[in-house]
Amino acid sequence: MALERTLSIIKPDAVAKNVIGEIYARFEKAGLKVVAAKMKQLSRKEAEGFYAVHRERPFFNALVEFMISGPVMIQALEGDNAILKNRELMGATNPKEAAPGTIRADFADSIDANAVHGSDAAETAAVEIAYFFATTEVTSR
Ligand code: TYD
Repeated sequence: MALERTLSIIKPDAVAKNVIGEIYARFEKAGLKVVAAKMKQLSRKEAEGFYAVHRERPFFNALVEFMISGPVMIQALEGDNAILKNRELMGATNPKEAAPGTIRADFADSIDANAVHGSDAAETAAVEIAYFFATTEVTSR
């Protein structure tokens, strides 16, 4: 099993629902450790930069507006197969298609307000963690 790190964001809709703790409990039960964390109101520039890969997609502007609509909780998670494990905990992008018991099935309302972000590969995880955390802010445990 590979020890990995992944970038997770609890999005404004889930922060507003006050379910940060419930989502953290799922990470912990799955064996994922929080090794860095910060709550933040993203600027438009930060949100646009984070989702730059989606810049040409029709939903880009709405996605950015949503991501800056309130504070987000950002964390780096560490564990065996952390990237895939977190994606499994999250469920499908569209909560209507998300498996029962996943974070999106339980807490997301729509494809655009879908509660959580999780890196999708090792390369993106490294870039995304570095986007929000200085090396010295990521711990090891
Ligand atoms: P994507 O990277 O495809 O999904 P995931 O978050 O599961 O990795 O898309 C990024 C975000 O863009 C997604 O979480 C919500 C938003 N989005 C929409 O608003 N509409 C869409 O049709 C898609 C595909 C994504």
